[in-house]
Amino acid sequence: MKILVTGGTGYIGSHTVVELQRDGFEVVIIDNLSNSRAEIADQIAAVTGVRPAFEVFDLTDREKTAAFFKKHNDLAGVIHFAASKAVGESVEQPLMYYTNNLCSLLNVLEGMKNNEITNFVFSSSCTVYGQPDVLPVSEEAPIKPAESPYGNTKQISEEIIRDTVSVTELKAIALRYFNPIGAHDSAEIGELPQGVPNNLVPYITQTALGIRDYLRVWGNDYDTHDGTAIRDYIHVVDLAKAHVVAVQRMIESKMKSDFEIFNLGTGTGYSVLDVIRAFEKATGIKLNYKIMDRRPGDIEKVWADPAFSNKELGWKAERGLDEMMASAWKWEQAYREKFGE
Ligand code: UFG
Repeated sequence: MKILVTGGTGYIGSHTVVELQRDGFEVVIIDNLSNSRAEIADQIAAVTGVRPAFEVFDLTDREKTAAFFKKHNDLAGVIHFAASKAVGESVEQPLMYYTNNLCSLLNVLEGMKNNEITNFVFSSSCTVYGQPDVLPVSEEAPIKPAESPYGNTKQISEEIIRDTVSVTELKAIALRYFNPIGAHDSAEIGELPQGVPNNLVPYITQTALGIRDYLRVWGNDYDTHDGTAIRDYIHVVDLAKAHVVAVQRMIESKMKSDFEIFNLGTGTGYSVLDVIRAFEKATGIKLNYKIMDRRPGDIEKVWADPAFSNKELGWKAERGLDEMMASAWKWEQAYREKFGE
């Protein structure tokens, strides 16, 4: 069975392609390489022994997207990762974010509808909860006004999907990710941030390697056990596996409704200092860091209630923080050797 993975050379996409191939699915990737590299298709092949089919184009191109779906009208499902995801950049370039994230979604849904492809998995985010009133946060929690255009694109996307499901044959599962980190054990694939990383873990690994002088810890006056902000970090391979489960659930007609939403987190929150300590423990490297003021737009604390996804999907995040940090470090070293920068 053939699955389209949009954004399949990206961070979460590439790990998901590996898990799909391992489960016997045939994969075709579409990616515009805006935040990834063509070589990733070879890296995927190095892990699985199979090079996924790969088309390079932009999903905001309606004609190209329509032509793709016409050609591949035998898809068993679509996993849609392709989107821009930097919160700060979205504040500076809202139109670019709305155009990229929403037009590509619309074109994909249109292509599916016109070719009677019904199974759709969407890459959503815990950002839709904002700062939840109740922790851990469950799928029932209210959606808060978005903190950024990026966050808003995820909220609007979920609404577009819900409206489409209600009047077409489309079936959809939105997966709300908490904070994916780490890399594949093979160190063939991992996170490839362009320029100065925004996210915590690539910043840590680049600091440890001497590419950055020190990590800036954004605020230590939050209402948490050590004053630094708390997130639910989940190993990217655990996250990837949930996508395979979601696709199988659709194919095997196990869905309880035509639009389902699941949290993908571990249920455990760690502070920024907890993460630094785990990194130091996993690698034996002392990390340089400085406490700074809070980063605007950051929320204080969020972690998932994964009970519903654990029960309904029969899926559970298995890897702990130490393993996440060790794999991130292994990948950082391997990719510097591979890509040389
Ligand atoms: N942090 C630092 N220093 C850094 C980078 C991050 O202290 O250099 C802290 C942040 O302040 C935050 C934590 O580390 O407390 C995690 O920050 P990330 O930037 O790695 O992740 P965020 O939780 O801010 O954002 C992530 C995704 C977004 C998504 C959001 C949803 O990157 O796409 O989760 O909450 F919208």
